[in-house]
Amino acid sequence: MTRPLLRVDDVHATVHLRRSRQTLLNGVSFEIGEGEALGLVGESGSGKSLTTRAITRMLDPNFTVTGAIEFDGTSVLGMSPSALRRYRQTDVGMIFQDPRAHVNPVHKVGDFLTEVLVRDRGLDQREADRRAVALLDEVGVRNPESRLGQYPHELSGGLLQRVMIASVLLAEPKLILADEPTTALDVTAQSDVMAIIEEQRKARGLSLLFITHDLELAAACCDRIAVMYAGEIVE
Ligand SMILES: Nc1ncnc2c1ncn2[C@@H]1O[C@H](COP(=O)(O)OP(=O)(O)O)[C@@H](O)[C@H]1O
Ligand SMILES: [Mg+2]
Repeated sequence: MTRPLLRVDDVHATVHLRRSRQTLLNGVSFEIGEGEALGLVGESGSGKSLTTRAITRMLDPNFTVTGAIEFDGTSVLGMSPSALRRYRQTDVGMIFQDPRAHVNPVHKVGDFLTEVLVRDRGLDQREADRRAVALLDEVGVRNPESRLGQYPHELSGGLLQRVMIASVLLAEPKLILADEPTTALDVTAQSDVMAIIEEQRKARGLSLLFITHDLELAAACCDRIAVMYAGEIVE
């Protein structure tokens, strides 16, 4: 394997409830090399989404996490708030199962795509729009200019997922965490979206953690596969 970009080593995550605690990740370990795609496969409830939330430190505050999570040699669990913000904004990008749950319904697609570029990267609006249009075009969105003025509810699920992929790529991350990105889509949109992720990953040399319950799909698009069961990697 090439130099590991992400190293997850013996991660345990325990949730503290009012009267009890429950260990939901039970010694999860894996590595993802630069430019490598790892499939994380497991039945529903096995801890796949919790693993991505541990990697981005987005677990609820009533979780404790132990073990090591390193990105490019830096401890994620030890990051200061500003380093963590930078890591989430520029190093990792997340694509979720349900894109609609991760967009603001009253924001236009264009604002959603360009906000980070304008606010955090100091681009002027015209340049940000130009980049957004170019990326929408790259991920197969037709009439990209006119999409910028539309609201999320005007787009189909497959189209909205392409917008999400474009928004992730606009931030130029090194690693993409894709948590069941096609599960909620109809069959044709599923294969389109998968093909786009594949194509962009290869063109940009990105690393990918691809989460799915579909072993066949993972085998088709990933370099290696890890199987998760009850909070552990079993294979
Ligand atoms: N915030 C939470 N509090 C308590 N239990 C949780 C929480 N989030 C997830 N779980 C439990 O952790 C287990 C793993 O969840 P998850 O990582 O979402 O599974 P999946 O592999 O389907 O993505 C499930 O049993 C789920 O009920
Ligand atoms: Mg999940």
